[in-house]
Amino acid sequence: MTRKPTRATLAAMVALAREARERAYAPYSGFKVGAALKTRSGEIVTGCNLENASYGLTMCAERVAVFKAVSEGLSDFEAVAVVADSKRLTAPCGPCRQILWEFCGDIVVQMSNTRGRTRVMRLRDLLPLPFDGRTL
Ligand code: THU
Repeated sequence: MTRKPTRATLAAMVALAREARERAYAPYSGFKVGAALKTRSGEIVTGCNLENASYGLTMCAERVAVFKAVSEGLSDFEAVAVVADSKRLTAPCGPCRQILWEFCGDIVVQMSNTRGRTRVMRLRDLLPLPFDGRTL
């Protein structure tokens, strides 16, 4: 069971996700997303969405952050922040929830928009009845 990070930690993660969002490559949708993934020991890895002219190859910000972090040898994740410029908060898409569950388990998911609206949930509430290695 993961504890909720402090408000200051979540605020720092949102700031980094906002910065990462600026680096998004989203010429097709125009919808830029930033993510920041934090380990329990304090490392924060960011990601942004990377689109492709072959639309289906687009990669979401959350998965970029997870794949960067895991491929660098990081593990034991505590929370992820997701930032977009949408009135309705942007929650991780279905595939991202599955990938987050695989590598992060029941982490804290902080969703924010660029207008300062914020909501914190746990991944298990975004992905009830997950399919994972325990099923195999
Ligand atoms: N996107 C993300 O990066 N993360 C999400 O949680 C939702 C969607 C991206 C994918 C695509 O580049 C754009 O947002 C519009 O769907």
